[in-house]
Amino acid sequence: MICSAAPAKVILFGEHFVVKDKPAIVTAVNLYAKTCITELESEKHLLISKQLRLETDIDKDRVPEQLAQFKHIYEIINDKYGITRGFKAFIDSDIPVSSGMGSSAATAVSFTYSLLRFLGVEFELEDINNIAYEAEKLVHGKPSGIDNTVSTYGGIIYYKRGYMEKLNVKWPQNLSLVVVDSGIKRNTGKVVMDVLERYERHKEIMKHIYDAAEQLVNKARNLILSGRFYDLGELISINQGLLESIGVSIYETDKIIYAMIENGALGAKISGAGRGGIVYGLFMENNLNKAIHKLKNIGYKPIIVKPVEKGVIEL
Ligand code: MEV
Repeated sequence: MICSAAPAKVILFGEHFVVKDKPAIVTAVNLYAKTCITELESEKHLLISKQLRLETDIDKDRVPEQLAQFKHIYEIINDKYGITRGFKAFIDSDIPVSSGMGSSAATAVSFTYSLLRFLGVEFELEDINNIAYEAEKLVHGKPSGIDNTVSTYGGIIYYKRGYMEKLNVKWPQNLSLVVVDSGIKRNTGKVVMDVLERYERHKEIMKHIYDAAEQLVNKARNLILSGRFYDLGELISINQGLLESIGVSIYETDKIIYAMIENGALGAKISGAGRGGIVYGLFMENNLNKAIHKLKNIGYKPIIVKPVEKGVIEL
């Protein structure tokens, strides 16, 4: 049996702007999608998703929509390497679905890794990343590639289409990332298209917003590289303002953001596509309890996530 795990992500700065070739900063975090593959005596290729409670035979013409990305990966790998043995793939994940934590990318990365290892072929992380990107295109339409990249390579990454740089720094022990899921699910591909259409309607204004996002991300990169994590708070809030202006912030996420800010966050913003999904806040560890208490009081389940240095790993 071959098992692997690939991490979720939190986009610290620059989502959406990254779709139009601006930079973004993302970190892998300690929630995982896992895939275990065992050989079958029959020639069947079975997929079981515990989290989605779905099961399918990939060779059938139609597979449930939520599992289509795995069929796509299977076909790409079959074309390239030839899959001659039957298998059963068991996929599980503790990453919330459709909420901005890169659940689809992490499952794609983990499934790709396990399947290539199961076949015993030689591959590089770059192959995993490229195949998972193809699956992301199927799910999200016009993805920037940031989600599959961070889940493959891990760490804190400064990312631009066609360029990635691992920021070689240690996350400070006394700094916490708190994530709250608004519980509102949305379709990333649709939100991305809406933002791109708004861009086209107001190009002369939007290009300044996109340029500001680029400057903001570059400033954040410099602060991170010089270990000045504690000075990121205002940039997080400015980034949130830019997300508001491109139309992805809604009342429910604003409520969480203000609850965090009013209870000690250095900064808080939407992370991922927005219009629901998750919010993250940056906190000094000794200043966490009040916010956690408040968030629970107003009905949310805050989770403290830790940045992780490794991307996909074999278990
Ligand atoms: C998705 O996690 C983040 C977006 O920037 C889309 C993308 O980069 O593909 C909204």
